[in-house]
Amino acid sequence: MTPKIYSSDFLVIGSGIAGLTFAIKVSAFGSVNIVTKKRDRDSSTNYAQGGIAAVLAPQDSPESHIQDTLEAGADLCNRKAVDLLVKSGPGRIHELMEWGTRFTTRKGENGKQVLDLGREGGHSYNRIAHAKDLTGHEIERALIHKISEIDNITIYEDHTAVDLLTEHQLRFITGDNEIRSDFITCYGAYILENATSIVNIFRAGITLLATGGVGQVYPHTTNPAIATGDGIAMAYRAGAEIADMEFIQFHPTTLYQEKYNGRSFLISEAVRGEGAVLVNSRGERFMDKVHAMKELAPRDIVARAIDSEVKRLGDRFVYLDITHMDKKFLQNRFPNIYEHCLKTGIDISKEPIPVVPAAHYLCGGILTDLNARSSIRNLYVSGESSCTGVHGANRLASNSLLEGVVFSHQAFLHIQQNLDTKQDTSEIPDFPQWDKKGTFDLEEWILIQHNIEDVKRLMRDYVGIVRSDRRLERAFRRIILLEEEIQDYYRRSTLSSQLLELRNMATVAKLIIRSAMERKESRGLHYTTDYPESIDSMKKNVILKSGREPEFRSINNVSFS
Ligand code: FAD
Ligand code: SIN
Repeated sequence: MTPKIYSSDFLVIGSGIAGLTFAIKVSAFGSVNIVTKKRDRDSSTNYAQGGIAAVLAPQDSPESHIQDTLEAGADLCNRKAVDLLVKSGPGRIHELMEWGTRFTTRKGENGKQVLDLGREGGHSYNRIAHAKDLTGHEIERALIHKISEIDNITIYEDHTAVDLLTEHQLRFITGDNEIRSDFITCYGAYILENATSIVNIFRAGITLLATGGVGQVYPHTTNPAIATGDGIAMAYRAGAEIADMEFIQFHPTTLYQEKYNGRSFLISEAVRGEGAVLVNSRGERFMDKVHAMKELAPRDIVARAIDSEVKRLGDRFVYLDITHMDKKFLQNRFPNIYEHCLKTGIDISKEPIPVVPAAHYLCGGILTDLNARSSIRNLYVSGESSCTGVHGANRLASNSLLEGVVFSHQAFLHIQQNLDTKQDTSEIPDFPQWDKKGTFDLEEWILIQHNIEDVKRLMRDYVGIVRSDRRLERAFRRIILLEEEIQDYYRRSTLSSQLLELRNMATVAKLIIRSAMERKESRGLHYTTDYPESIDSMKKNVILKSGREPEFRSINNVSFS
């Protein structure tokens, strides 16, 4: 079969909250192709439990949500981006509801139904809209349904983006893609049809990358299998600026499992929001000695406290105890968590839940301005693969679904304002067909599996919750060797989604390690025993770009054209 060429006004890569909300909005201006590497609903969005934060209660205020976000972000947030996030939030939530999302409600004071707002770590008010503990599932359901009603949106499932189409790709397709030009334009992407291993060309005037997070570079993560950092690696190879990669958020409470099956089951922070307490193996509460907000302190603090408690007592986990709550309440408020724990033999209304931290969220990503534009022309980025500056050094709970909808809306507004200059797809240059031919060798495939495990082990052992110069240097030396080995397979093998993921995971791991090495202080989620304090002169961001030394500068006034 020969490769095909698809053309549309907009190409959206990823079908989580960021990609789908963007697609719905820009479909008013033209045709949209969405590509997604598994089924449409396979996304982190689909697993979100706690909810989506916004100022929705009369006693709450934007200033309070802004303040909580800045505080969690450990002095590294972009204040303008945070203002925008918070002020746009309520409007975006109402939009999700208009598109069919059913958030949980309760009877208000005047007898009318109002949103049942939950509480999570670092928030001063109850401001988390949720659909019990299945919020992401409900949002994803509603968005996919909405999209099915729009004629000019087409979803291509089981299609994996390989690389962006840029001027650079006109010169060569595969291999060591170091790019030197400062003026790069995106014209779409090379997309692998998983079933046939054929790489097709998807041309588009505007491309949105919304490929989500990177949790799979760690062995223990809440993230689904799709979270391999593909968009970030693709953008890096194409010459985009990447920022804040050192800030990996470990969720404090995931279910401890003797036998691990690839994804840690999350015990939502909303459980602590309902009063659950953390206790060690001696039955002692410890968060009250660590932070004034106790179990509802920002996540970096709770995760580090658990890590330290487990190491101090030589344990494998601590306990989360919600047994003070009534069984009926738990079954109604947390049906998913209740049932899942019961299946593993734990009745959460009667016994404490064994929990451990696991990799959960990437605060950094592809650097964007307030319009969600990246440093590559006609390439917008939204959701977890972007770095908008709203999270700084640590994300406030339930601000990420919000970031996805808000910045996809920003991209939409910017496109709307510039419709007269929108790229005509007929002017897109002719890109060469993907001519890489390789072989599939089972023995090499086993080595690839081992490489995936090597990357994960390396990240766990050297780039976890607590870091040091020595560990990071060791990790960097190893990842460079691994990357070379993987690049070698890549050149010689038939393309598969797994091989692409492995290549991207190695790149993303390298970016995380490189950024962490630059930050010679502890701030937010980056804690190193060599520099345990925050240093004022380091209130800047680590920015990486292919072919250039890392830069340490503020992203606060970044604007791309
Ligand atoms: P995703 O939803 O991850 O979607 C990415 C999409 O890109 C997927 O469709 C994927 O298949 C596709 N993709 C990836 N690579 C490629 C490729 N190469 N080619 C084609 N397609 C590709 N945040 C909150 O605010 N509140 C919460 O309560 C909350 N709970 C969470 C619970 C869990 C268990 C997890 C894992 C995360 C949670 N988060 C929560 C974080 C939040 O869910 C994510 O940050 C957010 O959903 C990311 O949305 P996204 O659209 O950027 O990416
Ligand atoms: C949770 O429910 O604890 C996850 C919330 C989040 O990651 O924002």
